[in-house]
Amino acid sequence: MIPRIYIPGDSGALALGAEKVAKAIAGELAERGIEAKIVRNGSRGAYFLEPMVEVATANGRVAYGPVKPSDVKSLFDGGFLTGGHHKRWLGSPDKIPFFAKQTRLTFARCGVTDPLSLESYQKHGGVNGLTNALALTPADIVAQVTESGLRGRGGAGFPTGIKWKTVLDTAGDRKYIVCNADEGDSGTFADRMIMEGDPFVLIEGMTIAGIATGATKGFVYVRSEYPHAVAVMNKAVEVARKAGVLGASVLGSPYAFDMEIRVGAGAYVCGEETALLDSLEGKRGMVRAKPPLPAHKGLFGKPTVINNVISLASVPVIMDKGAAYYKDFGMGRSRGTIPIQIAGNVKYAGLFEAAFGMTLGEIVDEIGGGTATGRPVKAVQVGGPLGAYFPRALFDTPFDYEAFAAKDGLIGHAGIVVFDDTADMLKQARFAMEFCAIESCGKCTPCRIGSTRGVETIDRIVAGIEPEKNLALVTDLCNTMKFGSLCALGGFTPYPVMSSITHFPDDFKPAPVRVAAE
Ligand SMILES: Cc1cc2nc3c(=O)[nH]c(=O)nc-3n(C[C@H](O)[C@H](O)[C@H](O)COP(=O)(O)O)c2cc1C
Ligand code: SF4
Repeated sequence: MIPRIYIPGDSGALALGAEKVAKAIAGELAERGIEAKIVRNGSRGAYFLEPMVEVATANGRVAYGPVKPSDVKSLFDGGFLTGGHHKRWLGSPDKIPFFAKQTRLTFARCGVTDPLSLESYQKHGGVNGLTNALALTPADIVAQVTESGLRGRGGAGFPTGIKWKTVLDTAGDRKYIVCNADEGDSGTFADRMIMEGDPFVLIEGMTIAGIATGATKGFVYVRSEYPHAVAVMNKAVEVARKAGVLGASVLGSPYAFDMEIRVGAGAYVCGEETALLDSLEGKRGMVRAKPPLPAHKGLFGKPTVINNVISLASVPVIMDKGAAYYKDFGMGRSRGTIPIQIAGNVKYAGLFEAAFGMTLGEIVDEIGGGTATGRPVKAVQVGGPLGAYFPRALFDTPFDYEAFAAKDGLIGHAGIVVFDDTADMLKQARFAMEFCAIESCGKCTPCRIGSTRGVETIDRIVAGIEPEKNLALVTDLCNTMKFGSLCALGGFTPYPVMSSITHFPDDFKPAPVRVAAE
């Protein structure tokens, strides 16, 4: 059997040197006259081990990492093609604690299969969900998705089945499925990982959404900063079309569904669903007032499902294994699994898929291993730039939509960014206001004007000008933005600001006046 070597082509792994490692391995194979197949897989998500190279042996896959080009010669000398020992030897990937502790439903194939091989996808359970869906009525598919308890993973946590039902029940000569792959939140990369590592699962999820709602056309709106994801998705769509998964007759059924990949132009607000629709229609991305909901009047005025990548990519496993299976994971009203993205100043950064319910402390301290600097964790921002900063005192909060909301926070797209005790929360609060001022679409006053006034007011606190009065003004301004903004950009910017003020009051006190030594 020809040896098979897996070297991630995922852009996170590439940023860590995977391409150089791939070249070194190909060169070494040529020099030694060894015939082997190199598969450019996705990443399994343990970025602290990337580039993680795997070989398929008679006893299963054996991983090595993080591999440097300078390791390659000694890897061959040590017999790595048959799983030989080496200082980078990690053993079976399934037994590496970071992976062994996960519950991989949505990411089951990511890093395992060849992303562009439909055969490899099917061998690992791909297309089963779509096949099952084709045997049901659209209403029954929608009922399954509703029953699974799946909620939107883009941020708002809205029940996916209810959104689909609205589109199914709305008449339209044309309907659309739009996949939100703008992934603008800080510290998030789950959408990118899926698109690069298992693109067919997103294609399958979108196709099921189309069949369930009567939509025949889909668009994936990908941020321009993701060129690798765009390239992989485009190729995967071609493969799916050729194989009859997409096209005029999906898998030989009477249903038609096809899709296109579109690239954004680099605005955070274009991740907001209605601004995204404007952008997709070729206009400047401005938030639309609701109603009408996109489900009634969305892309080009037609009934439209807009879902995040992970929401759509979670549908195939639901349709494959059943709503009850998926629903069995999780807690409260947060059902199934969530790919938590651990980033920032953290020892073990990466993607960790788990059932809802782990505490923030478990995620940061046990899975993330604390800070990379080895200093105490001061704060964790959960849910992107609009998410609250959590202090250690709130680390017992379980990962659950309602539990986070009860602590004035949000899960968002499940990105967590860790900060050590050198972080200045006054600066972080200013950053949140500044971010809002820069990214505001300008449609409503509380956000457009409020964020700029917010920066100015925080600057006065920094300068020690009437700090108490200005702190009260920031609080007042946050209330105006929270309750008066048209969308969550202005409406949620108060979360990082107010959580900084509430949980880290010392950082908002005037700096001690230094008295020059006599
Ligand atoms: C300013 C702003 C940015 C957003 N960015 C994203 C994004 O990058 N990706 C995403 O899926 N949802 C984003 N959302 C949420 C979307 O508006 C919308 O709720 C989501 O696409 C719906 O899909 P879901 O129900 O599957 O989560 C953003 C919302 C706001 C207010
Ligand atoms: S809150 Fe900000 S981004 Fe949202 S509509 Fe208003 S101005 Fe635009």
